[in-house]
Amino acid sequence: IHRYLPSSYLAEMDIQSVCGFSVTKPIPSRLTSAAALKLEGSVENGATVLNHSMTLVQRLETLLAQGNGSDVILRIVTLSTDEVKVIQAHSLVLSLQSDVFTELLHTANSSNLVVRESADSAAVFDKFIRYLYCGDISVHLGQAIPLHRLASKYHVWSLQQGVTRYMTQHLSSDSPTGHVVTWYQYAMKIGDMTLRNSCLQYLSWNLSSVIQSSEWRSVSEELLMSLMQRSDLVLQNELELYEALEAWISHNQPADAVAENALQAVRYSMISPQHLFRLQKQSPLMLKYRESVRDLLFLTFQFHAASPIQLAKYFTLNSSLFMPRNYLSPAWGSPWVINNPTRDDRSFSFQTQLGPSGHDATKRVTWNALFSPRWLPLSMRATYSDHGSLQPTRTDGGLPRVIITPANSSPDFAGVSFQKTVIVLARQQGKVVVRHVYSFHQSTEETGNFLLDADLQRRASEYLIDSSLYLHVIVKPIYHSLVTTRK
Ligand SMILES: *[C@@H]1O[C@H](CO)[C@@H](O)[C@H](O)[C@H]1NC(C)=O
Ligand SMILES: *[C@@H]1O[C@H](CO)[C@@H](O)[C@H](O)[C@H]1NC(C)=O
Ligand SMILES: *[C@@H]1O[C@H](CO)[C@@H](O)[C@H](O)[C@H]1NC(C)=O
Ligand SMILES: *[C@@H]1O[C@H](CO)[C@@H](O)[C@H](O)[C@H]1NC(C)=O
Ligand SMILES: *[C@@H]1O[C@H](CO)[C@@H](O)[C@H](O)[C@H]1NC(C)=O
Repeated sequence: IHRYLPSSYLAEMDIQSVCGFSVTKPIPSRLTSAAALKLEGSVENGATVLNHSMTLVQRLETLLAQGNGSDVILRIVTLSTDEVKVIQAHSLVLSLQSDVFTELLHTANSSNLVVRESADSAAVFDKFIRYLYCGDISVHLGQAIPLHRLASKYHVWSLQQGVTRYMTQHLSSDSPTGHVVTWYQYAMKIGDMTLRNSCLQYLSWNLSSVIQSSEWRSVSEELLMSLMQRSDLVLQNELELYEALEAWISHNQPADAVAENALQAVRYSMISPQHLFRLQKQSPLMLKYRESVRDLLFLTFQFHAASPIQLAKYFTLNSSLFMPRNYLSPAWGSPWVINNPTRDDRSFSFQTQLGPSGHDATKRVTWNALFSPRWLPLSMRATYSDHGSLQPTRTDGGLPRVIITPANSSPDFAGVSFQKTVIVLARQQGKVVVRHVYSFHQSTEETGNFLLDADLQRRASEYLIDSSLYLHVIVKPIYHSLVTTRK
């Protein structure tokens, strides 16, 4: 009655020897090494490889399309509808690619195999089966999740890994309604932390666009809180985040506790008193939850009223309330486009506010920034002088470096240290996206890896956009607690 190959036979079978089935073998690295071996062999004994792998793949595709010699009928039942899709398949191919199919075929008692799938998985089931026969597949943004789900369910690991890679490489792709929030939520559900973190970082570094897209409303409570707690969000200013939160809450109508938690994660100190007055009087959200942010607003107005050093005598200023995020608005920093960055050193001056506090916001600090394309670390220069040679300050072995220093010193700087952040933009899938965020005190040398993999010498480097390096420099005042000197 069993018309299928017993699984023991399959297990012992030399996969390579079954009429060149290596084409559909799931592990690409082994495929390449096998090909390399063959190539070497041909050089050694003067043989020539006749390569008809493509024809074989085409034949397998025809075999699937016409169903000749089929020994199993796959019936794909769409959950919650009575729709059934039928595929004439071959147990040999299914078993070769998936131990789940091997098991299903083993336990089924007729040549009918019924599988139940959600509507989106059922829609790509043909594609999925075709991949099992041909080893290639075309993927659209909207098909990534159902294909990943099928690959996981049927243990087709090569496809699963391929789709994960596809997703991490297509976070910035254009889609009418956005897709990264959905991918984040899927990654959370299946517990793929690498994919989740890639999505979360992309959303954090591109928050202004996400906030403006229709995708923003579909953000889950969990994702909203994960974002609200991050200091590395790249956005115009904190007010933009407050307004986005307002839109999210009014659309999603969450429980009071959720709204209160989210509201308490807003960094009110980074919003000017003028804007805060308006929110207090005119924002329906603020009026509704006035009680839950009362203490934060009180602390914020105290912050705005005095210099950081006066404040630090009485308060600990290490709460995230006083920690700036990566704000792109001009008060916080400046874009810096460096044309032909490998040519020579470049300098640049820009101004920022002394601090976000109402006490300081009108005071300006001028900053000098210096970019060196090939800076040699001190440790390496030391070895040169040991040998008595001239000290080269720049050689081909050096790495890019940015130093940012204030143009002059001021007593106003007391109680504040200025953290510098350089945002590096790069091209991905034809889009300009934030690629790195480096934070340091004075020099990118402190980070140890500034533009380490950028390869600015290479014309095609993804970090060169029209042969320029696109940076955005941000200066963040960090307030010291004077806890140690407090009596
Ligand atoms: C045979 O051809 C295919 C594509 O035409 C290629 O991918 C494969 O590496 C070739 N194999 C050998 C052994 O040359
Ligand atoms: C598949 O079967 C059809 C008839 O059912 C036949 O015409 C066709 O030649 C067969 N194809 C192959 C590749 O054997
Ligand atoms: C095997 O087939 C019989 C009769 O067609 C059916 O009642 C039974 O549920 C089947 N068993 C399995 C494991 O599918
Ligand atoms: C802030 O400083 C206080 C006192 O030094 C300390 O107890 C507290 O844990 C710190 N909080 C954070 C978030 O670092
Ligand atoms: C953010 O995403 C949008 C839409 O995909 C894109 O147009 C924009 O270039 C991205 N910006 C950054 C800074 O990543």
